[in-house]
Amino acid sequence: MGSASRAVSCLCCPCKCLACGLFSCLCSILVSLLVTAGVLALILYFIFRPHMIAATVDSAALTQFALAPNSALSYNLTVAMTVRNPNKRVGLYYDGVEALALFEGQRFGYAPLDSFSQGTDAVTELKPGFHGQQPVQGDVTAANFRAQQSAGAFDVEVKLNAKLRVKVWAFKVPGPRARISCPISVPAPGNASAPAFQPTGCKVWF
Ligand SMILES: *[C@@H]1O[C@H](CO)[C@@H](O)[C@H](O)[C@H]1NC(C)=O
Ligand SMILES: *[C@@H]1O[C@H](CO)[C@@H](O)[C@H](O)[C@H]1NC(C)=O
Repeated sequence: MGSASRAVSCLCCPCKCLACGLFSCLCSILVSLLVTAGVLALILYFIFRPHMIAATVDSAALTQFALAPNSALSYNLTVAMTVRNPNKRVGLYYDGVEALALFEGQRFGYAPLDSFSQGTDAVTELKPGFHGQQPVQGDVTAANFRAQQSAGAFDVEVKLNAKLRVKVWAFKVPGPRARISCPISVPAPGNASAPAFQPTGCKVWF
């Protein structure tokens, strides 16, 4: 029996197992197991994907946010956010975690964070801090900066990216890359009458 016909009998064997040799019978069991595992993995993926992660920014403070005439943005932004794994059966591992801060779509802050893991139904608090100086481009950006300063709050986007691994029962399997985006409005530094920060929910993509 050639390998091609063996493969064929492997696929058709379940219907007429008694007529087949032991080898192709085992082979067909293996194939059915693999197919079942694949289908299960797909089902699990579609069941759990929507509930994979919930994230909020609980507090954020700018102690410095100034745009110099040469377009250099000096910033000191601290953020406290919680990331929740709402799943009852799936544990999560976060690797290559990085936090980004953007103003007007331009990235000014970058903060690599430690890897972490979450058991089922667990909450992790993260405190990325961004400080330094970064040139930002565009007259529109500068105009929006001034407008937001006199309004008393800056619109900043905080992003969190991580590569996930998923733990189901005893199995750890590679998961998708998670992208978390939090559009926050942070009180302008040194403005006592600026409205207080409001906790803000984040969007999560995979
Ligand atoms: C940034 O602000 C925090 C307080 O929010 C302060 O502790 C820290 O020293 C500041 N960092 C720099 C580099 O100024
Ligand atoms: C401080 O914030 C308030 C609004 O909360 C705003 O009306 C005021 O112009 C801001 N002050 C300065 C100096 O920008």
